[in-house]
Amino acid sequence: MNPTASYTQRRSQIEHYFDRTAVAAWERLTSDAPVGRVRATVRAGRDRMRSTLLSWLPQDLSGTRILDAGCGTGAYAVEAARRGARVVAIDLSPTLVDLARSRLPADVAARIDFRSGDMLGAELGHFDHVVAMDSIIHYSPEDAVAALAQLAERTARTIHFTFAPRTPLLALMISVGRLFPRGNRAPWLEPMAAEKIAALMAAHPGLAGWQSGRTQRVSSGFYQSQAMEWSRT
Ligand SMILES: C[S@@+](CC[C@H](N)C(=O)[O-])C[C@H]1O[C@@H](n2cnc3c(N)ncnc32)[C@H](O)[C@@H]1O
Repeated sequence: MNPTASYTQRRSQIEHYFDRTAVAAWERLTSDAPVGRVRATVRAGRDRMRSTLLSWLPQDLSGTRILDAGCGTGAYAVEAARRGARVVAIDLSPTLVDLARSRLPADVAARIDFRSGDMLGAELGHFDHVVAMDSIIHYSPEDAVAALAQLAERTARTIHFTFAPRTPLLALMISVGRLFPRGNRAPWLEPMAAEKIAALMAAHPGLAGWQSGRTQRVSSGFYQSQAMEWSRT
């Protein structure tokens, strides 16, 4: 299916942001280097989110194929590969993917295939599990659910994704963010209500064989994100 114009437009803003504007900040945030207080809350929240998502997968992942959709610097892919999975890890930003490759520990190097490009590419193949950690948070709820539905066509078991929850605190942070000079701004988060996601999921023909399961919100200072599990019925 062809992506919508709004998906394509947002995707190119995201690529520009993560491949240029934010590379240095992401390199630091995703390392052990010291960061300021605000970023420390984000780092702690992201660590909690990653372990939550990893805890939703079976402990032994031998023989499974996983797509890390929007892998950034690859931390999730490394942990999944350590548990035996074969991982395709893809990101729009070639610079972040290069960074991920340069950080790749030798013990899992043979099990992770890093690529740069769109997570929806059919050439990536079929998977048992797909994870999209904080990678669909900048798309509209309609485009995000349509993207997940495309991934679902090629997924045998579960999709784990996160979304920006609709909370007063997050709304406040987004409006403060809008005050920053344009060049420094991240692409807008698109807060979503869980009910909206459920309604879009129910209405999407491609998701007829899917149900939602666990959900977990992580709130850590400036990091607000909610994980959701979809699985085949
Ligand atoms: C907030 S970062 C999170 C990275 C990683 N999942 C993590 O948690 O460390 C979001 C990433 O999603 C990627 N992304 C967004 N849309 C994408 C798409 N359509 N295809 C591939 N990557 C995408 C961005 O380039 C960015 O690196």
